Amino acid sequence: MTKPIRLGLIGCGGIVQGTHARAYLSLPDTVKVVALADIVDDNLRQVGNTFDVPEAQRYNDYRDMLANAEIDAVTIATPHFIHAEQAIEATEAGVAIISEKPMATSLEDADAVLEAVKRNDVPYAVVHNYLFTLTMQHGLAQLRELGKPIFGRSQGMGLKPSDFSANHTNPAFAWRASKGKGGGCIIDTSYHEIYSVGALMESPVRYVEARVKTLHLNIDVDDIAMLLCEHENGTISTVSGAWCAPDRDWGWCEVHTTDGSLRVRHRRNEPDSLMRFTRASGWQQLDIPGFADQKFKDPSGHIGFFAATFEALSNGDEMPITGAQARQNLAIIEAARLATDSRRAIDLDEL
Ligand SMILES: NC(=O)c1ccc[n+]([C@@H]2O[C@H](COP(=O)([O-])OP(=O)(O)OC[C@H]3O[C@@H](n4cnc5c(N)ncnc54)[C@H](O)[C@@H]3O)[C@@H](O)[C@H]2O)c1
Repeated sequence: MTKPIRLGLIGCGGIVQGTHARAYLSLPDTVKVVALADIVDDNLRQVGNTFDVPEAQRYNDYRDMLANAEIDAVTIATPHFIHAEQAIEATEAGVAIISEKPMATSLEDADAVLEAVKRNDVPYAVVHNYLFTLTMQHGLAQLRELGKPIFGRSQGMGLKPSDFSANHTNPAFAWRASKGKGGGCIIDTSYHEIYSVGALMESPVRYVEARVKTLHLNIDVDDIAMLLCEHENGTISTVSGAWCAPDRDWGWCEVHTTDGSLRVRHRRNEPDSLMRFTRASGWQQLDIPGFADQKFKDPSGHIGFFAATFEALSNGDEMPITGAQARQNLAIIEAARLATDSRRAIDLDEL
């Protein structure tokens, strides 16, 4: 049996405490959390105690962790604007990197990350977790029997609190509502709907029309994102995302093909989350094999994502979500913003 991957965590906030931790705990033979970095002591303490990390391996400065800890890989789960810097520093330390989305807040920074990854020859992956729920995995497998995609749609909408602002006392709200910290509905939330419907469409996006605006909340980042994408093979998909919808509809994506339709509630990993339409049978709920056997329900797909990524790391295989895939998602977001400013369709090759 190979030894578990020694993991250092950069950022120990909400997503790590609530979700990443559950994934690592469910993979004890694969991964061992041995070091942590966070600027907030309470978060270091909380996550450090969960994994019995020695005091000496709890760092306030992630650079000290990279210099001193004996680690094979790091995860980055900090506010968006520091992902690129932290990833580049980690490449220099020669460790594998698993970054929460987005890989950076601009394509320029994303390209700097990819260049550092190549120069230092380290594995690099970005968390596109909703592709790894059982629902989505089974949906993608079903798609092969449904003919060719024609058009797709996705949606993820909800209402952020009325006091959701850069001054919020909850730090995870504050940076999300701040332009300088890389926040905003499209890059934080609709990010997932963009790659989810993209996976169902089977052809990369080439042109983007969009409106990414601040319509309702008192924040300096977008609270709504509406995208119309044309794919390289001429098919079309839409993405609707909002932080200012009175009711919650997080979220679904669907594809309509030559032989039927598939609807996946990708943010809800429950037995009724996958529906298929065929002319012969109408809409039907599909059974999802393996659901009953899941130790944890893995509603966000993080366990599936980390399991696949750690397995690829152990075997020296390509990462299940590559830097190139994450760059493409960011390019769609950058194109959507540019399309809004210029009120024209953007060819991703222009960027
Ligand atoms: N994939 C998903 O479904 C999903 C869901 C939620 C969050 N996320 C992503 O996870 C990341 C973190 O989000 P969150 O909700 O946990 O935010 P958060 O604000 O709760 O946590 C961020 C953590 O980073 C720490 N931090 C800030 N600056 C730091 C630095 N320089 N060095 C080390 N630590 C630093 C903060 O103290 C905090 O503990 C974001 O990239 C977000 O998009 C992904």
